[in-house]
Amino acid sequence: MGCWHFLTLSLCFFLCLLSHIIYVSSLRLPKKLYDNHNIIHGPKVRFDPTLVTQVSWHPRAFLYKGFLSEKECNHLINKAKVKLRKSMVADNESGKGLVSEVRTSSGMFFTKAQDKIIAEIEDRIATWTFLPIDNGEPIQVLRYEHGQKYEPHFDYFNDKYNIQFGGHRMATVLMYLSNVEKGGETVFPDSELRLSQRKDNTWSECARAGYAVKPKKGDALLFFSLHLNATTDIMSLHQSCPVIQGEKWSATKWIHVRDPNKLFKNIY
Ligand SMILES: *[C@@H]1O[C@H](CO)[C@@H](O)[C@H](O)[C@H]1NC(C)=O
Ligand SMILES: *[C@@H]1O[C@H](CO)[C@@H](O)[C@H](O)[C@H]1NC(C)=O
Repeated sequence: MGCWHFLTLSLCFFLCLLSHIIYVSSLRLPKKLYDNHNIIHGPKVRFDPTLVTQVSWHPRAFLYKGFLSEKECNHLINKAKVKLRKSMVADNESGKGLVSEVRTSSGMFFTKAQDKIIAEIEDRIATWTFLPIDNGEPIQVLRYEHGQKYEPHFDYFNDKYNIQFGGHRMATVLMYLSNVEKGGETVFPDSELRLSQRKDNTWSECARAGYAVKPKKGDALLFFSLHLNATTDIMSLHQSCPVIQGEKWSATKWIHVRDPNKLFKNIY
């Protein structure tokens, strides 16, 4: 009997303590910032860190599931559709845009904060990456049709011309705006995890060449082209596999070391 009495008392004490802890912690959390779903509501930004997983550490890559809503994806596609041009690559010597068989997609650039939806997405990217809005280029939207791809490349620059504008591209946020029936994966051929990722027959042959991420409408992939010590990371090599079935739409935000709108001469 004494034993039961003791257990009941202990349970009571424990419950009291627990409710006290919950009460205290709810006092500490500012109500405006957190709700039950762990979503941070800033003045403009909606962001949930629990939806992010680390894809790889060499190179540093992270996947945010459902970063964009269906509505945001459709908005970007519809607005970009009418302005698509053949994509280009930067010439190694002059840095000028060249049409190349290495990159066969079509694309266009928005301007920064071109409308409310785009401005909100840019705010969310800055919140997620902890990198300032000013360091980002305007969002580029790309369309890859059947067979179109971007062969393995780095996002940091090889030319002296582009690097004057904000220095290297240090981080890339690649947002998938559509689902692709087959192909169109993003692949890191040199990732340390390239051999350990299991792939069934839903992956394209191209995706088997490295660690791969399937394009999924609304998901966003963040990866870094520079090491933590700001030297270029050769493991950040990546490619966009040819689309085999369906159509791939993506939106890219490149983020520089500095504001790319300001000219910094003779820094490198
Ligand atoms: C430009 O640089 C890239 C990467 O270093 C290299 O793969 C490519 O062959 C170069 N292209 C030319 C035309 O030199
Ligand atoms: C920078 O960091 C990378 C990765 O940790 C390392 O391999 C490289 O040697 C470092 N470079 C310098 C100059 O410290």
